[in-house]
Amino acid sequence: MIFPEHFVWGASTSAYQVEGAWDRDGKGLSVWDMFTRSGDHIRERQSGREACDHFHRYEEDISLFSQIGLKAYRLSISWPRVMPAGVGPVNKKGLDFYDRLIDRLLEAGIDPWVTLFHWDYPYELFLRGGWLNSESPHWFAEYAQAVVQRLSDRVRNWVTLSDPQCFVGLGYATGEHAPGLRLELPEILLAMHNALLAHGRGVQAIRATAKQPPKVGWSPSVTVFYPFTDASADTEAARQATFSVFPGTIWNNTWLSDPVIFGRYPDDGLLVYGNAAPKIGSKDMEIIKQPIDFYGCNIFQGTPVKAGPDGAPVAVAFPPGHAETSSGWKQTPKALYWGLRFINRHYRIPVVVTENGMANSDSPGLDGKVHDQARIDFLNSHLLQVRRALQDGTDVKGYFYWSAMDNFEWQHGYAYRFGLIHVDYETQRRSLKESAIMYRGVITSNGADLDAFLPGGTEETPFLVKESIRYIHAHLDAPFNIQELAESLRCHPDYLGRKFKQHTGVELGLYIRRVRIDHARELLKNPNKTIDDVAEACGFSDRIHFAKVFKRLTGETPGRYRKLFVPSATAIEVRPLLRAINPRSSRSWKP
Ligand code: BGC
Repeated sequence: MIFPEHFVWGASTSAYQVEGAWDRDGKGLSVWDMFTRSGDHIRERQSGREACDHFHRYEEDISLFSQIGLKAYRLSISWPRVMPAGVGPVNKKGLDFYDRLIDRLLEAGIDPWVTLFHWDYPYELFLRGGWLNSESPHWFAEYAQAVVQRLSDRVRNWVTLSDPQCFVGLGYATGEHAPGLRLELPEILLAMHNALLAHGRGVQAIRATAKQPPKVGWSPSVTVFYPFTDASADTEAARQATFSVFPGTIWNNTWLSDPVIFGRYPDDGLLVYGNAAPKIGSKDMEIIKQPIDFYGCNIFQGTPVKAGPDGAPVAVAFPPGHAETSSGWKQTPKALYWGLRFINRHYRIPVVVTENGMANSDSPGLDGKVHDQARIDFLNSHLLQVRRALQDGTDVKGYFYWSAMDNFEWQHGYAYRFGLIHVDYETQRRSLKESAIMYRGVITSNGADLDAFLPGGTEETPFLVKESIRYIHAHLDAPFNIQELAESLRCHPDYLGRKFKQHTGVELGLYIRRVRIDHARELLKNPNKTIDDVAEACGFSDRIHFAKVFKRLTGETPGRYRKLFVPSATAIEVRPLLRAINPRSSRSWKP
């Protein structure tokens, strides 16, 4: 009922992390082939030379994806496998591999979502300056065209770039990733600008070449700040932080996304970066701002913030012992809800979770099974936040778990396992983890099974509870009470209340008030509606009662809440936020 009928349930991987076959069938070198070869960049000097050997084992992998019930699989294409020198002659055998992969996926009823670039940049082009070379957007477009030419009769969904913040931020700024550069701000921003142009030219190439109407998006890493409490001042502080550029770091959302969606760099960014900002050619923004169909959100974690005394965002420290994944990332399910909501509303574009997942050090138990309860809890708590986002009207089209299978986790080698499928790297034996079985249940029930994991839940959410939820959402503007709701469902109100609490963990009355107040928060943003109008549209018989409930649930009066939506000129106090911004990096980057 809540997940739309065609919600895309999927899982992701990327070429370098799973394929192996680093020199098979004419593949060229990538910067990752070279980076993993020299020095001590990678834990235990591991590399993706063999990885999961997906190149040879893709059929077995796809049959495991079928067992999970995946509706879609997001894979990436290795640029140097297709064009060994990055530009020029196409390696037919390289494309043949993707041809076979796509055919096999389609036979299994799994929709391929193809990412054109997920970090394995052609080494030959790196020697010509890589993303610093102003030709790089053209190189990317040439490559994109070759891939789309060959695969678009069967592939409809395309992603241009995955995580530009990572391949530039970790590859060109802190040097933790290939190609291992530690550059100054002007060069870093230049590399980003060229990556943005590559995105734009890539979209143009896809649209010009595709053999069927394509759906095109991109997948940046979303830096999420989420409100520490439900109070609207905290929400506003989180929103402000999520859409700000901070000095001393290149991790933010707007510097990259504003050009893609609005066709301009954000004003605060231009101020913060000053004359380090790249020279913008007269046609650049036109090229970068191509219409796209979805914004792919890669969200793994977020930072809680609250409003400081002047309303500006202040990061809230996690309490000692806060749940972490084995890669040390904080578990913050709410970041998914807020990240999707903020991005969808700010950029007015449908969102897809193109990556969300957790690392664990899973291994088979004595019974041979991989009991990854932590991942089951992770999936459950995060998917409930996706559901909450949908309930609140956020336009989420799909969810891809990262990752379909354990794989090469960049500088950490094979230490962190993100997969639904366990891979024994010595034997290349695969097995489904228990989380994969759980995910299968979620997929086949189109999300309804999530309720089975709520406290006190049973396998099936009773019809009564589902119907109550439907009724509440369908009667937002009607002042009904629990008695009337129970009557319409032909049951006793006490019984209904008990069942509802047992299956959702929430008192029925409180649930109804929350849904109404969430609705009110949206309506209050419309300056043409009076508070009386909003109270009435949310089923409150009078304004005073409405204001009381609103204050109790959000900590604000409706009037003050509304004022927060008048754009404020308050400067953001960034220092306390900075520490939290790039939890991926163990090195600092000094501007
Ligand atoms: C990247 C993946 C990576 C994952 C975990 C994602 O943002 O796209 O390649 O494995 O993060 O670090």
